[in-house]
Amino acid sequence: MHKRYHLTTFGCQMNAHDSERMKGMLESLGYAESASRDQADLILFNTCSIRERADNRFLAHLGEAARLKREQPERVVGIGGCWAQSVKGEIFARFPFVDVAFGPGQVHKLAEFLTSDSLTAQGYFEFEEFTGRLPGKRERDFQAWVQISVGCNCVCSYCIVPSTRGREVSRPSAELVAEVRQLADDGVREVTLLGQNVNSYGRDLHRPERITFAELLRQIDAVDGIERIRYTSPHPKDMREDVVRAHAELPSLCQHIHLPLQSGSSAVLKRMRRTYNRERYLDRVSLIREHVPDCAITTDIIAGFPGETAEDFAQTLYVAEQVGYDGAFTFAYSPRRGTEAASLPDQVPHEVKVQRLELLVEVIQRHAHERAQRFVGRELDVLVEGPSRTDPGRLRGRTTHNKVVNFDGLAAPGELVGVDITGATSQTLSGHESILSRAA
Ligand code: SAH
Ligand code: SF4
Ligand code: F3S
Repeated sequence: MHKRYHLTTFGCQMNAHDSERMKGMLESLGYAESASRDQADLILFNTCSIRERADNRFLAHLGEAARLKREQPERVVGIGGCWAQSVKGEIFARFPFVDVAFGPGQVHKLAEFLTSDSLTAQGYFEFEEFTGRLPGKRERDFQAWVQISVGCNCVCSYCIVPSTRGREVSRPSAELVAEVRQLADDGVREVTLLGQNVNSYGRDLHRPERITFAELLRQIDAVDGIERIRYTSPHPKDMREDVVRAHAELPSLCQHIHLPLQSGSSAVLKRMRRTYNRERYLDRVSLIREHVPDCAITTDIIAGFPGETAEDFAQTLYVAEQVGYDGAFTFAYSPRRGTEAASLPDQVPHEVKVQRLELLVEVIQRHAHERAQRFVGRELDVLVEGPSRTDPGRLRGRTTHNKVVNFDGLAAPGELVGVDITGATSQTLSGHESILSRAA
């Protein structure tokens, strides 16, 4: 009888990708995935700590793990990821039922723990380079994540990530291209390159491996079989013309750039230690619009950073109006342990943050809706992902702009098909497969 594991993942794509690697590793050790937590011999969490809400969501699940462990003490409870890293050794004091804890850089140590005879709780929190070739278990055969760097060398004053993922380490380009070739051979058509700051890729490498992010994109674009390349996230300070031009020149590089703004006020950006100001950001946007007019631009914005005045916030609204994003993730500032901003004076009251978020969301939605109308009446290539979430009789996929499309059609997941777009909201497009209209 196989041992069974249950893994719950919180957080960003990095964590989702780390979880795929954990699953691959566990299955190579002979574990099988369990659909429910109470059937599992190994209960795992891959945690996030980016905002307070992320902590709370995870802690709410941990109670159930404690109960299951009490009922059946031979079960193993493991906690990986950014929350684990940020509280480290405290875990075992606060949650004595936890058997093993490890940071994002130590996924492979889970295997070491499971195959040892250790009966005492173990914690693994070193930062290492990318932890090698764990066999991944992908959610979809035709899409894959490729981690191009780990860690972050920025010091954004609100952000916990540098302390949970360590200094930036780029993986050698030859290794990355070989990985993408292998994925293409396995049937992958779309890769998403992952890093906290993807466009600073390569700066820590030595010649001849030292290449720029734009050059890496070029080399991956040249891999046969890869039809779409995405990446997340670039930093505006490192967004140079070569990367923008690559979007115009490389056939497989998607027409979408996620360019995190964080704030539209130069004074706030300075206190955030983002190292660009409002003008420089808007200048990057103009560069994108000039070279890649149809490119979708999305962003992340934080409302209510310490000391943010009504005037500062008005500047954020102004930039949102001026750029006209295709979409955005908006967050209320959340103080994080150990970060510089958590101890800044003039923390903004909760109600004010909520009020500002509402105003911001209104502006974002209005532009997203307006921008989406440009697709109506066009035929767009859509990579089919599966059935529509709202209507299983229809299909769901994405355009190069990363817009979700719900449509009528007969294509199979993994196929790239033409879709006639007939409707657009701020969130999704709708339409029907072009071939159907041609056949009719
Ligand atoms: N490295 C990426 C992603 C960072 S986390 C980047 O720099 O773009 C994703 C987003 O979470 C950030 O862009 C930021 O908008 C938000 N975020 C990070 N820390 C936060 C905090 N303490 N409070 C609120 N939002 C935060
Ligand atoms: Fe955090 Fe800034 Fe690094 Fe992004 S770039 S992970 S926001 S420190
Ligand atoms: Fe990602 Fe959350 Fe860590 S957003 S990098 S899993 S803190």
